[in-house]
Amino acid sequence: MKSIPSVPSESRRRIEVCPGQTIALGPKAESPVEVFSTPSLILLLELAAKDLLAPHLEAEEDSVGVHVELKHAAPTPRGGWVEATARLVAVQGRQFDFELVAVDAAGEIGRGSHRRAVVSLSKFKDALARRTGPQAERLIASPPMVPATGTILGGVTGGVARLTLNRPASLNAIDRSLTADLESWLDYLEHPACAVRLVVLAGAGRAYCAGEDIKEHAALDAEASIALANRRGQICRRLALLPQPVIAQVHGPCFGGGLMLALAADLVVASHSATFGLPEVKLGWPPAYTLDAVVARVGRNGARRLALLAETWTAAEARELGLVDRVVADNQLRSEAERAVGDFLRLPARALAETKRLLADLGPAGSSGDLARTLDAYSRCRRQPEAAAGMKAFLEGRDR
Ligand SMILES: CC(C)(COP(=O)(O)OP(=O)(O)OC[C@H]1O[C@@H](n2cnc3c(N)ncnc32)[C@H](O)[C@@H]1OP(=O)(O)O)[C@@H](O)C(=O)NCCC(=O)NCCS
Repeated sequence: MKSIPSVPSESRRRIEVCPGQTIALGPKAESPVEVFSTPSLILLLELAAKDLLAPHLEAEEDSVGVHVELKHAAPTPRGGWVEATARLVAVQGRQFDFELVAVDAAGEIGRGSHRRAVVSLSKFKDALARRTGPQAERLIASPPMVPATGTILGGVTGGVARLTLNRPASLNAIDRSLTADLESWLDYLEHPACAVRLVVLAGAGRAYCAGEDIKEHAALDAEASIALANRRGQICRRLALLPQPVIAQVHGPCFGGGLMLALAADLVVASHSATFGLPEVKLGWPPAYTLDAVVARVGRNGARRLALLAETWTAAEARELGLVDRVVADNQLRSEAERAVGDFLRLPARALAETKRLLADLGPAGSSGDLARTLDAYSRCRRQPEAAAGMKAFLEGRDR
């Protein structure tokens, strides 16, 4: 391990309860009661504990759960939110003990304890192979299915996944469907047997992405908005930590969560027409996630200008200040991105993956602590009347 986390310290994860995480109770013919399932609660709590250890691990290590005890005391409906807190209370060598607490909008729903052990991945893989023999190899080696998604047009050719955000009427604003589709693609790309070597992320229509879907947020209560923002923070973090290099091919507006999606990439190529901003304060809240990725690129001063002064930067300004890597004429954007694809494909995939991991370990964008802090600030503001007023102003076309 690189370091030992301090005791006590804690990590949090918040989710919106989605269909795959529920259990239906009651006769199928009648409308069933659908609630957050106990295995999903255990997974959420386990991931919160795993997050806390992750920044302290070497590249060849990970943590595994070895014990969990949980009282799941109250139900949460589908569509509600659940927040899990894992509090590190004791360390014995490479074993870590956590206290677990989960709450939803109505109060505490679960409490328990959990132990995790830090393992060497190579030794763990050997132990797995010894235990299950060739079957384990077959399971690990079976390639994942390319996801079929509606709000992302995607295809994999020649080891390159080209993904296009596809909600052009809303300038590819990130709504719930797009969130779920991004998660499906990340599940696919993170699979150990995924053969994709490179990812290109672009936008359909006249924008890369105008950020979170404000119209959808305006129709949601604050808690549902916060749960969604948390999922999008996790998406940016997962994108940044993919072993494959990611290229963002940016044209037109690239704002808010759209900018965070671009900055999760390893290379940002933009066209002259691209514009960049973090206008969230105008809506009544701060950026909900990965502000540290902005600071990593343009320093505190640039982040201040974008997030606090809500400046809009042209592509030329963005290039000059380091927000993007390359700027080309609009009609050369695709060929420039393809040139970068060729450059990456000529480099050894393993060396790229290891280098990405090293860079992330230097100070990962969207580490669990940063995500939790940023989401807290967002949550406090999203619950205020100013947020409702800000969204109303956007819907009425004022102050854009
Ligand atoms: C990006 C922007 C400057 C582009 O301005 P523009 O070129 O004049 O385009 P419009 O504002 O007319 O947007 C085109 C359509 O996309 C919609 N849209 C743009 N951004 C959106 C968003 N973030 N959420 C939902 N819909 C959005 C607009 O409502 C409009 O839909 P309509 O034609 O049904 O009215 C402007 O749309 C904007 O400020 N968007 C919000 C950016 C933002 O605050 N993002 C952070 C969200 S947390």
